[in-house]
Order: sequence, then C-alpha cells, then structure tokens
Amino acid sequence: MIKVLFVCLGNICRSPMAEGSFQKLIADKKLHNKVSCDSAGTSSYHIGEFPDERMCKTAAKYDIMLNHRARQLVKEDFKTFDYIIAMDEKNYHNIKKLADSGGETPRSYKVFMMREFDSMKDHHDVPDPYFGGIDGFEEVYSILTRSNKNFMDFLIKEHNL
Ligand code: 4NP
Repeated sequence: MIKVLFVCLGNICRSPMAEGSFQKLIADKKLHNKVSCDSAGTSSYHIGEFPDERMCKTAAKYDIMLNHRARQLVKEDFKTFDYIIAMDEKNYHNIKKLADSGGETPRSYKVFMMREFDSMKDHHDVPDPYFGGIDGFEEVYSILTRSNKNFMDFLIKEHNL
C-alpha cells in the first residue's frame, strides 16, 4: 500500500480538500488496494474540527464530501507515510524540521510541494484561503485537482500501478 499524507497549516481547508480530491482519483482509477491517503496540519489550532464550511461547500459542488477531522502532524507520520505533500513553503519547512528533529531523515526526501505537480504553476504555494473570500476556495479546488491528477500519474509510473 502506498500511503500519502497531505499537509497544510490548520488541516481544515487545503489538505482536507487535497485528501478528498485524491480519494476521488483513487476511486476513479480503482486503486483502493494500492493507494491510500490522509491529511494533517502542522498547527494544533483546529484539532478535532470538521473542515471549514466554505471548503466543504466548494467541494460539494464537485461531488466531493469532506468528512475529515483535523489532526496535527506527528513524528510517527514519517514512518507511516511514503509521501508527504506540503501545501506551501512554510509548512514544507516545518515538516522537514519535525522530520529531522526525530531522526527520521531517511524518509524526509519523500516530502514534496503540492505545486511541483501543477502544470499551470504560477507560484510555489497553494494559497491559504482562510482569511479571504469564496473565490479563494474555488482557486484552491482547481489547483488541487490539477496537481493531484499529475501526482497520481507520477505514482502510477513510479510504482507500475
Ligand atoms: P489551512 O487553512 O491551513 O488550509 O487549513 C488555515 C486554517 C486556519 C488558519 C490558517 C489557515 N488559522 O490561522 O486558524
């Protein structure tokens, strides 16, 4: 089983959306037995909460239900997951810092930035939509669907799925 973890700051907007859209791809490609995913946040701000209502509404428009409960990234995640996908540079550095502090460096090379897989990349980060309007959530949805498609193709090639 290839295990993927999507990580943002609060684990209530971007990473649960990334998880939901990737789950849909797993289902479309009938890869349930080979690929799984989860999400987490680098902060403890929203532990236990459901995703942001605005993110849920946007996801629902595209037939994606978000039912994740926010949790914080922990050191054990570096042992559990094969790929850790950061939503932005700040979180990428915090993920690396946690990995290195736990002596988990051998796997930290599997930490990627989500937009490394975005064919229309105009910025390194998936923008944080939390303090903005509804358009920001639509943009996050578009970026994540686009990037996830390419990330899935990458996994299929890399692991001969
Ligand atoms: P996320 O968005 O990292 O995409 O889940 C945010 C959620 C909450 C906060 C910031 C970003 N916050 O500052 O509470």
